[in-house]
Amino acid sequence: MDLIVTGATGLVGSLLLQYLDKINTNIEIGCLLRPTSDISQLTQLNLKIKYLRGDSFTVKTWQEILSQFCPKTIVHIASIRHIPVIMDCLREAGQNPRLVVIGTTGVYSKYNQYSREYRVIENKITEYPGSYSLLRPTMIYGSHRDKNLHKLIKFCDRYGFFPVFGAGDNLIQPVHAEDLAQAILTALQRPHIQGAYDLSGGTVVTFRELLTLVGKLLGKPVRQISLPLNAGVWSATILENILKERSPVRREQILRLQEDKAYPHDAAQRDLDFFPRTLEEGLRQEVELMRSLGMISS
Ligand SMILES: NC(=O)c1ccc[n+]([C@@H]2O[C@H](COP(=O)([O-])OP(=O)(O)OC[C@H]3O[C@@H](n4cnc5c(N)ncnc54)[C@H](OP(=O)(O)O)[C@@H]3O)[C@@H](O)[C@H]2O)c1
Repeated sequence: MDLIVTGATGLVGSLLLQYLDKINTNIEIGCLLRPTSDISQLTQLNLKIKYLRGDSFTVKTWQEILSQFCPKTIVHIASIRHIPVIMDCLREAGQNPRLVVIGTTGVYSKYNQYSREYRVIENKITEYPGSYSLLRPTMIYGSHRDKNLHKLIKFCDRYGFFPVFGAGDNLIQPVHAEDLAQAILTALQRPHIQGAYDLSGGTVVTFRELLTLVGKLLGKPVRQISLPLNAGVWSATILENILKERSPVRREQILRLQEDKAYPHDAAQRDLDFFPRTLEEGLRQEVELMRSLGMISS
C-alpha cells in the first residue's frame, strides 16, 4: 500500500481525497475509518481506496494495519493527539513511512493547559527516525462543515449582532480548508520536505474586523455588543455544559480570545507553494455556499 490517510471523512480529509481524485492518481490508498464514519462521499471518487476500519487512537488498530501493510506514507489528519500511539506502533512494527501530520498553531498558546499536550507531542515527532512534515493550521474555515466561522455567520445572519468579549482587538488569521488540503497534497508530492510549517490564511484581521466583514458579505449590519471577558467565560461554560457539542462557543475559545493568533506562513510559501486566499474571498465563498444550502437567508 502506498498511502494511508486518517480523517478522510472530515472537512480537510475529504477535500484532500477529492484533490487526489482530480490528479488522477493510481496509487492504492488505505483510508482508516471508524465503524460509524460516513463513507458516502468517498465511494463517489474514482480512487483505489481500501477501507480500513478501526480507531486511530488505539494500539490494536495500528497493530492490525501494520501487520498487513507497509505504507510508504501516512497522512494523519484525524488528530495530532493520536501520534504517540501511531509512532509507538510504527517502532514496534519496524516501519518508518513518511509522516504528514496535521497539528495546530494552538501549540503556541500561552494557556499551558491547552498547549502543553501539543508541545509534548511535537517534541516526540522531532524524534521520528523517518521523514516527516508537521503542518500546523490556524483556525480552519470554508464551509458549513467547519467548526468555527460557519456558526458565527449563521448567528450573525439570524440575530444581526454578535457579542464581543473583552477588547475584540486580538488578531486572527483563519485558513481556508481548501488551501490547507492543497498544502497537504503538496507535502505528499514533495517527500523531501521535512519539518514543521505554520499554515495561516491570507489575511490578518481583528475579531471586530471579522464581524464587519461578515456583515458586509451578508449584506446586513452585524452589531457588535461589547461585554466583559468574564461574562463570556461564564456563558460559554454554561452553554458547553448544557449543549455539549452543539454549543456555538467553547470556553477555551473565549479564553483564547485575548491571544493574538496570527502567524506568518513564509516557510510554507517557500517550500509548499502555499499562497492562501484572502479572508474576504474565502468567506464570500462560504457565505454563498451556506446560502445555496438554505442555511442562511439569501
Ligand atoms: N477546526 C480547526 O479550526 C482546527 C484548527 C487547527 C487544527 N485542526 C486540526 O485539523 C485536523 C482536520 O480538521 P477537520 O476540520 O478536517 O476535522 P473534522 O472535520 O472534525 O474531521 C475529523 C476526521 O477525523 C476522523 N477521526 C476523528 N477521530 C478519529 C479516530 N479516533 N479514529 C479514526 N478517525 C477519527 C473523523 O472521522 P469520523 O467521520 O468518524 O468522525 C473525521 O474523518 C484535525 O486534526 C484538527 O484537530 C483543526
